[in-house]
Amino acid sequence: MDSFLIEGGRPLRGEVTIGGSKNAVLPILAATLLTSDTCTLHRVPDLSDVRFMLKILESLGAEAEFKDGTVTVRAARIKGFGDYELIRKMRGSICILGPLLARCGEARVSLPGGCVIGTRPIDLHLKGLAALKAQITIDSGYIQAEARKLGGNTVFLGGRAGPTVLGTANVMMAATLAEGVTVIESAACEPEVGDLANFLVSMGARIQGIGSPTLTITGVKQLHGTEHEVIPDRIEACTFICAAAATRGEIIVHGSRPEHFAAVLDKLREAGVRVDRKAGTLRVSGPTRLKPADITTMPYAGFPTDVQAQFMALMCLAKGTSVITERIFESRFMHVAELMRLGADIAIEGPNAIVKGGKPLSGAPVMASDLRASAALVIAGLAARGSTQVHRIYHLDRGYERMEQKLRALGAKIDRVAGE
Ligand code: EPZ
Repeated sequence: MDSFLIEGGRPLRGEVTIGGSKNAVLPILAATLLTSDTCTLHRVPDLSDVRFMLKILESLGAEAEFKDGTVTVRAARIKGFGDYELIRKMRGSICILGPLLARCGEARVSLPGGCVIGTRPIDLHLKGLAALKAQITIDSGYIQAEARKLGGNTVFLGGRAGPTVLGTANVMMAATLAEGVTVIESAACEPEVGDLANFLVSMGARIQGIGSPTLTITGVKQLHGTEHEVIPDRIEACTFICAAAATRGEIIVHGSRPEHFAAVLDKLREAGVRVDRKAGTLRVSGPTRLKPADITTMPYAGFPTDVQAQFMALMCLAKGTSVITERIFESRFMHVAELMRLGADIAIEGPNAIVKGGKPLSGAPVMASDLRASAALVIAGLAARGSTQVHRIYHLDRGYERMEQKLRALGAKIDRVAGE
């Protein structure tokens, strides 16, 4: 398993271009199952999760090609139910359920199971599809869903932690080919859901309320192929911005959509980070002295849970106490113990992490546990004195394309060490 070896203490300087959004492209790839025509996607990041999803589509009989950021997919015919082992290994594959149900009238998808950040239930996905007249049963690790014809309905998709992103995606995709009108109440408003909705509309779907908590989908007979450019990855953008701030650097960020992460920019400014925007370009400079700031993760347009770990790494460097409250997932503090190996002073009390920042961090070997925790450890390693080895960065490769090259281009001393 590969690791990153980082020599910290060097300010990041230079320019970085943000790639396409992982969390937009995964459901969009699933949506290509809704038509027998060819779909072409641009600005697709080369990530292990994307390559995994393409394998899943191919296991269902689709032809897929991925070259220089462009993917073409054609699901002319759908064969069987896909490869159980493949689907079981990546949670995000749950979003093939809705399209398969709509296209074939049945689907057999392995239960996604949980991960380190939480149990990751799918009760809202199943509630929504059942409202569209699907018969759903769970047996021996599979979800078996059948529907001679899906029928439109009104369904509330809010759960104990607010709306569900992939649950909204699943139900919206299924509703595009259902008979009649579907209204999704308490729909997720994340930009990635909006990008999927725009992709579906470009395939001929009829969707109103895009970007709002109420989506109205009028079913159509069939959908056609299309061409689409994936939105930039707001989480990648926030990760690089936190890294620049943590190393007292100054970087120019190209290709992001700052309006997609206004809550993060607001908190960074509160922490003393300078952020100037000119069209889609951001100039970010980290202050010599960071100030503490409290965050609570919320559904969009609140502070995103996917930036919680990275922001915590930054707050370890801000003299004073910052309270980080995680309201979306029940155990998304796996990075805390590893940050403490670097000298951070953090106490966990339920959903709160109390960060007493300001002491300099010193490099040490640390272990990545999940995608965004790994990013937090890289940020801390870049700021720490001495060297930090981040083990198991296969977690990071799931969601960041060529991270070490992009950081090296910004002056970081970071190398990928081939797996032991
Ligand atoms: C998406 O996961 C993202 N993944 C996650 O990003 C992101 O953290 C999450 O949305 C929240 O923004 C992808 O888009 C591939 P949810 P998703 O359903 O859709 C509860 C990353 O780092 N819930 O919005 O699976 C759930 O337990 C990843 O890129 C139910 O109770 O998340 C959680 O508390 C990590 N029942 C909350 O809702 C359900 O049926 C939000 O989960 C579904 C979810």
